[in-house]
Amino acid sequence: MAAKKLNHHPAAEMWAGGLSDDIDHVLWSQKQLAARIEELGQVLTEHYRDRDVLVVGILCGSFPFIADLVREMNIPVAIDFMAVSSYGDRTTSSGVVRILKDLGTPIANRHVLLVEDIVDSGRTLRYLVDNLKTRHPASLEICTLLDKREARVVDIETRYIGFTCPDEFVVGYGLDYAGKYRNLPYIGVLKPEIYRT
Ligand code: IMP
Ligand code: MG
Repeated sequence: MAAKKLNHHPAAEMWAGGLSDDIDHVLWSQKQLAARIEELGQVLTEHYRDRDVLVVGILCGSFPFIADLVREMNIPVAIDFMAVSSYGDRTTSSGVVRILKDLGTPIANRHVLLVEDIVDSGRTLRYLVDNLKTRHPASLEICTLLDKREARVVDIETRYIGFTCPDEFVVGYGLDYAGKYRNLPYIGVLKPEIYRT
C-alpha cells in the first residue's frame, strides 16, 4: 500500500492508491502548511495595515497558497494574477521567462506583494521584479511558500518565506510536474523514476 511507504502520513493516506503513489516522501503536510501560512498571514497583516496592498499571484503554481494566504490576512487586499512560463515539462530551470498573462490593473504608487510557490534559480522572479519596478509601485515585496536557496543562480531578495526547501524536485499544493500533482493537499518529493521515464 502506498500509505505505508509514506510513513502513515494522514494526508497521504487519504490519497493512497491515487496520486500519492508517485510520491517518495512528504515534506510538509496539509496541517504544517496551514500552520505556517497562518503565521505568514499575521506578519503580512501587520506589515500592510493601513496600506493599499495589491497581492499578485504568479500562476499557476501559487493558486492554493495565495487563496489560503489572503484568507489569513485580516485587512482589505486587492488581488490580481500574472502568468509566466519558465519550466515547460522539464525539471531544470530554462532561464527563459515569458509573460503569458499580465496584470489587469496599474500598480503605480501601490504596495505590491508578489506571491510565488517556489524560488529556485531565481530567474523567474528576477525578471518579474525588474519588469514590475518599471511601473513604479510604492513598494514591491516577495512572499514565497518555498525557498530552494541552494539552487539560486541569480540574486533575489525574498522577504517572506514559508519554508526553506531542499534542492529536490517537489510537487503538490500548486507545484506541478508536467501539469500534474497541483491538487495534492501536501508537498512531497516525486519518485525520481517518474521524471526519468
Ligand atoms: P526559477 O526561475 O528557477 O526560480 O523557477 C521558479 C519556477 O520553477 C517556480 O515558479 C516553479 O513553477 C518552478 N519550479 C522550481 N522548482 C520546482 C520544483 O521543485 N517543483 C515544481 N516546480 C518547480
Ligand atoms: Mg510551475
